[in-house]
Amino acid sequence: MPASSSFASAQARPVAPIVVAGATGDLGFRIAQALLQRGATVRALVRPGNHKPAATALQDLGAEMVEVDFNSVTALTKACAGAACVVSALSGLREVIVDTQKRLLDAAVAASVPRFIPSDFCIDYTHLPAGSNRNLDLRREFNQRLDQAPIQATSILNGMFTDLLTGQAPVVLFGLKRVLYYGSTDQPLDFTTIANTAEFTAAAALDPTTPRYLRVAGEVATVRGLQKAATEATGQAFGLLRVGGLWVLGTLINVTKALMPSSDDVFPPWQGMQYLHNMFTGLPKLNPLDNSRYPEIRWTPVREVLAARRSEPAA
Ligand SMILES: NC(=O)c1ccc[n+]([C@@H]2O[C@H](COP(=O)([O-])OP(=O)(O)OC[C@H]3O[C@@H](n4cnc5c(N)ncnc54)[C@H](OP(=O)(O)O)[C@@H]3O)[C@@H](O)[C@H]2O)c1
Repeated sequence: MPASSSFASAQARPVAPIVVAGATGDLGFRIAQALLQRGATVRALVRPGNHKPAATALQDLGAEMVEVDFNSVTALTKACAGAACVVSALSGLREVIVDTQKRLLDAAVAASVPRFIPSDFCIDYTHLPAGSNRNLDLRREFNQRLDQAPIQATSILNGMFTDLLTGQAPVVLFGLKRVLYYGSTDQPLDFTTIANTAEFTAAAALDPTTPRYLRVAGEVATVRGLQKAATEATGQAFGLLRVGGLWVLGTLINVTKALMPSSDDVFPPWQGMQYLHNMFTGLPKLNPLDNSRYPEIRWTPVREVLAARRSEPAA
């Protein structure tokens, strides 16, 4: 990817870099990109031997690429030196979300970095009971440690990535022209695109006045709202498909977990089902929303994301 002329010149960039861990991942790459677009200096921490195209692209865009041993607090401390903020966009299970992020946090503190943004980027787990979502339990556990650390922390909560509606999340069924749901048609659900989440995170990383939590939703939609968006996006009438109450989804999750061999997969099918179950309960609904904090961000509606499906063959 060539360096764009819309990117601020290196001379205009603030001196203290923003460290991005996980910068060659889906979200992390876009956070680094959005930071560079805002004129920030970006230091991307990558694992040794990372030759992903994203690493080359970030280097071309002007990011400083630093290969670091994520198992070494000493090496991470050196890599964090002089930074204004550490942003984690790591993805994984306990070994990453709790253990690796803890080393990154210890390094940020040791290097006197003033601010830390953990890899949360999810529904509001602070309102969910422990045990209702494995991946979110890990975030809660890490954040309890983060709250004990002498560093200013900000978590970004964005609901579900809207992009998943055309892929992993089996809610908008393009082939059947139905919106599948459990429970109520009128429960408000939070959706934010990956790009919007990255833009907001970049703005927050450069803003030293951020509070402990920031909550955003590109669109808050009920199941009926998704039905309307899908109908408008495709020009074809979508119906509703109610599988049952939330207890049915709960039973399906338990059955799926029992049938599947345990694996290190971060997002096995039952994880997505847990996420949907959480959302349909309404407990992790984001409130209040901080969308207007950075008014330059244009929030992408669900309809626009679904409309991109029009050119694709029916599922
Ligand atoms: N709200 C939602 O709907 C939603 C959906 C999906 C994801 N998310 C969240 O968004 C965040 C980022 O996810 P993503 O989809 O961008 O993940 P991703 O594409 O898999 O990227 C994960 C990044 O973490 C790095 N990483 C993984 N294990 C590591 C380790 N042990 N040491 C060092 N680096 C490691 C990877 O490094 P390499 O590049 O070297 O592989 C990669 O850069 C996560 O918190 C995830 O849960 C939210």
